[in-house]
Amino acid sequence: MKSNRILVVMAAGSGTRMGASVPKQFLDLGGKPVLRRTIEVFLEASPDIKVVTVLPKEHMSWWRDYCLADDFNCPQTLVNGGITRFHSVRNALENVPSGTVVAIHDGVRPLLSPDMVAGMFRQMEEKGCRALIPVVPSYDTLKVLDRTRTADGQEMLLECKDEYADRSRIFGAQTPQMFVSDDLKRAYSQPFDTAFTDDASVASKAGIPLSFCQGERYNIKLTSPEDLKLARLIVRPC
Ligand code: C5P
Repeated sequence: MKSNRILVVMAAGSGTRMGASVPKQFLDLGGKPVLRRTIEVFLEASPDIKVVTVLPKEHMSWWRDYCLADDFNCPQTLVNGGITRFHSVRNALENVPSGTVVAIHDGVRPLLSPDMVAGMFRQMEEKGCRALIPVVPSYDTLKVLDRTRTADGQEMLLECKDEYADRSRIFGAQTPQMFVSDDLKRAYSQPFDTAFTDDASVASKAGIPLSFCQGERYNIKLTSPEDLKLARLIVRPC
């Protein structure tokens, strides 16, 4: 049975690694801000989805003005971000009703396909998953190295003898990560832990069983200027 679907789109980061004056989620990607492109993928996959957008407090009015000026009319609940991503998600969940399926997605991952989103919602609804996490296999050989510094302060990487990562068992976790909303609300009532690097780790600590599905190679998190360059080669400009 089709559930009520909620998208919580995480866009409250300051994006300092990109080196731009504007956070990366607002940078132009083929004629539209990255964040708009991200939300539009979900609207294409599931037109009746409800959108909760988490923003930095200081960019709230910029985003509101942009949506009005550029006719981006999708109804959104706008929420202030928190000090970490964990705190931002926790703020957003106050606006998520119980009895829904919630997709938590990074606003800076605009390149996923609507088919992936639609397929994941179907899997949640038809297979009764409690949590569904998209993953991609590691193609590169992985090295376990220690970071150290030379006498003149340069960073140096040192081999850890006999420690290796078996790449056949290592996967990269992506978003959207989907959950039954009541489960996720309960998971986010736990105290913050620095080991919570994604929503799946929060859910797992609360005892929620995780299911996994195939992610997409292009579903990258735009983090560095190189990522944005690559994204601009991939999207069709409007
Ligand atoms: O910092 P990181 O790259 O892990 O951020 C992933 C996503 O989480 C980004 O879309 C960012 O805007 C969002 N975020 C947030 N609130 C924070 C930190 C990050 O919504 N306090």
